[in-house]
Amino acid sequence: MKQERRVFMVASGKGGVGKSTVSTALALQLCKEHKTLLIDCDVYLPSLDILSGMTGEAIFSWLDVLNGICTPEQALLHHRYALLSAPNIGSEIPPDSIEKLLAFYPEYDAVIIDCAAGLGFSLELASKAADTALIVCTADEASIRSAAAAAKKIDKLGVPKSFLIINRYDPKGAVKGRLLGIDDMVDRTETPLLGIIPYIGSLLRSDGNDISLCVPLTDTAIRIAMRLYNLPIPLELQNAVR
Ligand SMILES: Nc1ncnc2c1ncn2[C@@H]1O[C@H](COP(=O)(O)OP(=O)(O)OP(=O)(O)O)[C@@H](O)[C@H]1O
Ligand SMILES: [Mg+2]
Repeated sequence: MKQERRVFMVASGKGGVGKSTVSTALALQLCKEHKTLLIDCDVYLPSLDILSGMTGEAIFSWLDVLNGICTPEQALLHHRYALLSAPNIGSEIPPDSIEKLLAFYPEYDAVIIDCAAGLGFSLELASKAADTALIVCTADEASIRSAAAAAKKIDKLGVPKSFLIINRYDPKGAVKGRLLGIDDMVDRTETPLLGIIPYIGSLLRSDGNDISLCVPLTDTAIRIAMRLYNLPIPLELQNAVR
């Protein structure tokens, strides 16, 4: 039986909090059970080709599919999941592009859209197609304030469900009072928590052109992926500062 398609958008207010890393780690998990399509919606600063170990391999973007410049298959980069690259900056992009694009790929039942930072056009594009938003933030004041703004905007854009993912979490920082507590972050964003991803120092040392980059995130990504499909996997709050 064909599964109902799920479309997840990964967004944040603040830049550099880990959206693309989380998108890629989730794609690597979801593709074990679903035919998975990862879409780079960061027209300004695309990076999924790099994180997927296929730097610069894309000849066509998803906009080329919509404009009839290539076939839907020609635009795909194949990993364990399929990847669609973002168009170049300056392209004319209609706001319903992602929604229309998905009609070309009916066989994919899990879609992940990696958005650009901020509250701009990328959110609008993804919101028209997504059933669930994953708002990534880190445990600092600026990130939480912008995650709260992103949650409000995404709700206004009509996405049915939103969840919070706290990334780069270092409980030692929270103990010393330098970071916000988990409860505070949930309250401030008014968004239920889906997962806490630990700070992993080795990610920053990677040359960034290798899928193994996401390996240290595997355990957390597995649990987040299961929760996305309503499996009752408890949150790991033992080491988190409430
Ligand atoms: N859990 C983590 N632990 C340590 N470093 C991390 C973690 N997650 C992501 N990073 C690092 O943070 C940096 C930013 O990650 P990433 O590019 O995924 O963020 P982004 O939100 O997509 O950025 P942008 O807003 O520019 O699109 C990268 O160097 C990445 O390796
Ligand atoms: Mg990114």
